[in-house]
Amino acid sequence: PKCIWLSRHGESIYNVEQKIGGDSSLSERGLKYAAKLRELINENVENNERLSVWTSTLCRTQQTAQYLPYEKLEWKALDELDAGVCDGMTYEEIEDVYPEDFKARDDDKYEYRYRGGESYRDVVIRLEPVIMELERQENVLIITHQAVLRCIYAYFMNVPKEESPWVSIPLHTLIKLEPRAYGTKVTLIKANI
Ligand code: F6P
Repeated sequence: PKCIWLSRHGESIYNVEQKIGGDSSLSERGLKYAAKLRELINENVENNERLSVWTSTLCRTQQTAQYLPYEKLEWKALDELDAGVCDGMTYEEIEDVYPEDFKARDDDKYEYRYRGGESYRDVVIRLEPVIMELERQENVLIITHQAVLRCIYAYFMNVPKEESPWVSIPLHTLIKLEPRAYGTKVTLIKANI
């Protein structure tokens, strides 16, 4: 691919409430980011270049894509890491209710699989078809979730798997990846929202 643009969805209601998972809508601030994203893409993608916008099936990514005048594709494989029984909880609640799991996850975040849910390794495996399709495309903007973006970023930037679940992928920031023969060039574009 020529250029891979990555973004987390805008701030969601669950982000504000510090709850994980779910399928909440964007907050006011998140909606501002959706509008700003259109400007950032306009400024940075050449007029005549094609761009495909890929989202997950969750409404916060689709709301983030809503103002982008490009062809869109929804991937179930881009949905956020499934937190199983912990879906909808805060980290504090998880530590309270499942203290052993909380520690196990901290000890080996890549391999830890939520009860009834997924590990980072599971996400990497389900992303395989997405990565294959991505390799065949020209310009793609992927609007997805924190854990999923860590996996995609780690793949292109050769981050070791144990480190990948800790990579910082800030909200309201557009990441530009340019795969080159000698390695991938990365540029961060902050939206300041
Ligand atoms: O808090 C936002 C979020 O996308 C959650 O939905 C998800 O469980 C979490 O981030 C993944 O990050 P971590 O693996 O650090 O818990």
